Parts: sequence; structure tokens; C-alpha cells
Amino acid sequence: MQQKIIILDFGSQTTQLIGRRVRELDTFCEILPYNKFPNDDPSVIGVILSGSPFSVHDPEAFQVDLSQFVGKVPVLGICYGAQYISHTCGGRVERADSREYGRAHLEWVDAGNPLFKGFDEHSQVWMSHGDTITAIPDDCKVIASTANVRYAAYASTTQPLWAVQFHPEVFHSSQGSLLLKNFVVDICGSRQQWSAASFVESTVQELREQLGNDRVILGLSGGVDSSVCATLLNRAIGDRLTCIFVDHGMLRKNEFNKVMDAYKGLGLNVIGVDASAKFFADLAGVTDPEQKRKIIGRDFVEVFNAEAHKIQDARWLAQGTIYPDRIESLNITGKTIKSHHNVGGLPEEMHLKLCEPLQWLFKDEVRRVGREMGMPERLIKRHPFPGPGLAVRILGDITPEKVRILQEADDIYIEAMLNYVCPDGEVLYDKIWQAGAILLSTVRSVGVMGDERTYEHPVALRAVTSTDAMTADWAHLPYDFMAQVSNEIINKVRGVNRVCYDISSKPPATIEWE
Ligand code: XMP
Repeated sequence: MQQKIIILDFGSQTTQLIGRRVRELDTFCEILPYNKFPNDDPSVIGVILSGSPFSVHDPEAFQVDLSQFVGKVPVLGICYGAQYISHTCGGRVERADSREYGRAHLEWVDAGNPLFKGFDEHSQVWMSHGDTITAIPDDCKVIASTANVRYAAYASTTQPLWAVQFHPEVFHSSQGSLLLKNFVVDICGSRQQWSAASFVESTVQELREQLGNDRVILGLSGGVDSSVCATLLNRAIGDRLTCIFVDHGMLRKNEFNKVMDAYKGLGLNVIGVDASAKFFADLAGVTDPEQKRKIIGRDFVEVFNAEAHKIQDARWLAQGTIYPDRIESLNITGKTIKSHHNVGGLPEEMHLKLCEPLQWLFKDEVRRVGREMGMPERLIKRHPFPGPGLAVRILGDITPEKVRILQEADDIYIEAMLNYVCPDGEVLYDKIWQAGAILLSTVRSVGVMGDERTYEHPVALRAVTSTDAMTADWAHLPYDFMAQVSNEIINKVRGVNRVCYDISSKPPATIEWE
């Protein structure tokens, strides 16, 4: 049986990070809302309680019945989790005199405690809380302190229960990964058998059982998630998978053909549909960004459905939904704020069941699975690309000519990025989360070319670093690279006479311009 760690989410922004850290230990974990602990699941080997935006004293603070798991499997409370355990088990939590935020160093650690095995004496930890624990439950003992926080960590002497007020999951806790390893591997007894290879093997097996002889349809986008999903399904059911790749005319330069070739090379059964004329016709004259998105979304569903209907007796719709798309992150009111589907709007009467084999994976795990299946490295490392494509990177209305101009500029930019090797030997493209060019077609500026005055559009370049696209920072691209790209775009792309670099982070900006 596959072992798993349950992470109960009390709404902290770093809950997903806890999940990633556990997965890095080759251990399967599920992040569940704080009140959804799966009783009677024998595969659970440990529980982690996350932080929370609440104080334990807030009337609306999230409550959980600890007896569901405390004393049954090892438990680790982090931040709010630690305070909640103290608060409900006879300790005390009070408002801290000053908010404890940021870097701190452990002054004292009980090196004999299994949670701190291998810890350095003054290990750096990351604090982020407004309350502090002023008394711990009777059966507990303190196992680490900082200068300001006496109960930085405590443990029960009677049951397998640990609690830390700092955040071991964040990068700034220098030995945080070690602490989690001590908990997950040594204390909970993880056999560390969750790997890309084991995932492929067990998922292919499960898909065969789940799908039997049924036919499956999948919408390909050229992106990593849908491509890995298709390859996995192809391995499980071969030709009974039919993939549909819609060209809406706003893909990157030569993208449709390149991606179709790559898919055929992977042995996928793909139908390519060139629907660009329909999309261009429906978008003509439309300038409002939301309106553009709506039209593209609607047209996409229409084209996809028309193709899907041609496939007789299809029973399933497969989607490359990944874990961050579906984690029920809690907002402060306790409502689920994120629900997501890659392809929506399939008519009810199609009666297709959903098949989402990547639904438990983080993005980096999807890439590892792709690699494990021998997919080409360039396909696996592709930057994310928005569904509406270049339409959200052209300000104002869309015409085939504007798309052509942007495709040329974008192609120069991305090719240069793929060819630029950084001093550390890594290709620049691989350091960047996502990059693309934006055509500022509602703006014109004066320039001079040869002896002639020009009055043309600027192109903005965007490149960001990120881990999940929720937040992003503009990438510090090398100046010589920017100079080369700017020259090449202005010299080669008719209709563009100026290149700018977007230095906005998200928030408050977004990655895309529209
Ligand atoms: P923003 O612009 O919101 O983008 O910072 C975050 C991430 O989502 C991608 N994106 C989209 N993907 N359909 C998609 O499939 C869309 O309408 C869409 N809008 C943005 C964007 O490229 C980035 O990776």
C-alpha cells in the first residue's frame, strides 16, 4: 500500500510548500482542508498541521478535533498548528509583544530529540506569527528555543506529537528540510518509494483498470501538462486515446507544425484542427481583453466539441490538470477559492467522464514523469503559454498582420534565449519561468531608419521567474542579451521600431498584459 502524509491546511500561504518538501522526500502527501481528515485510512503514516492567517483566539479561527489523529499516528504542528495544539491541550497562547517575523536563530536545541537529529547549534529558522506560546501542555517538554521564543519547538513525552512555531518548509529555515526529513522518514517511517518511475508504473496500471476498453479524448495545448498526460495515457491504452490540438491562429511562429511533429514523434494519435479563420473572424474589431478571452474560450469549446463528436463511443475526457490547479486553498472566510478546469463547457449530453492522471503532481514532478517516459527535453522544459495565446499579448484588436508581427518578434526573442548560455553553463531559457513578447499595437512612436522617419509600434519583452505563477518577479536578463535581441527585432521585424523591457513584478502587475 502507498504510504501517505496528510497535511491539514489551515489557510497558510506556505501550505503548498510543505507538500512540495514532503514530495521531495519521495513520499506521497495530500493537502486537505483542515476539517477533512480521512478517518480510517490505513495508508496515513503521519499528519502535519499547517500555519494559518488566524490567531487561535479569533472567533472564526479554524478548529479541528485533534483526537482524530493525535496518539494514532505521528503529528507535527507548524506555527498555527503548534499554537493550536498548545491552546487546546492545556498550554497557553498569547499575543506577542512584538510580531515575531523573519529570521531567528535557535539558541538551544535538544539534539537528542529525533526531530532535531543532525541539527547545527545555531540553525537559522523563519518565524511569522503575531501570537506566541507562553505555556505548553503538561505532558510536553520544550525541545528548541530562540532568543525571543522560549517554546520555538516542543514535543509530547507521552505520544508521538511535535510542534514548531517556525516554518521549516520555507527556504530561509536553513535546516527545515532536514527537520521534515526527520519527521517524515525517521519518525513516520516513510519508505520513500514515491518516485517518477513508480508513479508511471502504478498510474499506467490504474489507467488500464479504470478505462478498460473505453475510448478517451484529450485536448492538447502544446504545453507540458497536457503533453505528459497524453504520453502517459498513450502508454496505458495506446490508440484508444485520441488527442485534439486546435490551432486558433494565435500560437507562436510555426508552433502548430513543430508541436504536431513532436507529438507524432511520441507516437500519439493526434488530430490537428486549423480553426484560425473562425477565431480571426469572431475576434475582428474586438478590443476589450475580457471580451477577447470570452470569444476565444467559446470558439475553442465549439471547435473541440465538433471534433470530439466525430469520435465514436468516446467515454472519457482526459485533462492535464495538476495538483496546484485543484488544491482547495482556503481563504480567510473558509471558502474554497480555487477551482479549475482546463477545458470547460463540454455539453452535458456528451456524458464524458473526467480522467485526470496528473492531479496529484506538482509542476516539477510532471516534468520528472515526462523525463522518465523519455519525452524530449525541450518539450518538457517548455515555458507555460496562455490558452488564448498571443491574443492576450496584442493590445487592442487582433488582426492576422499583428499576429504575424508579434510572432516574428517573439520568435527572435525566444530563439535567442534558447541559444544564450549563461556563465554557469545553464541555458538562459531554462532559468526563466516564462517569457514572451507583447505587441503594443495601440501605441505608436517615432523612430528613424536609414534616412527615413518611422512611426511604428513598440514591442515589450517580458521574462519572469516564479514557482507557480501566483507571484512572479521580472527576470534580470543580461544586458548583452537584451541588446542583441533588441537590435535583431528592430532590424528584422517590419512594423516595430522600439523595444522595451517590462520590469513589473506580480503582484501588482500580472504576467500577461491582458
Ligand atoms: P497572469 O497573467 O494572471 O498569468 O499573471 C498567470 C499564468 O497563467 C497564464 N494565463 C493563462 N493560461 N488561459 C490559460 O490557459 C488564460 O486565459 C490565461 N491567462 C494567463 C499565464 O501565461 C501565466 O502562466
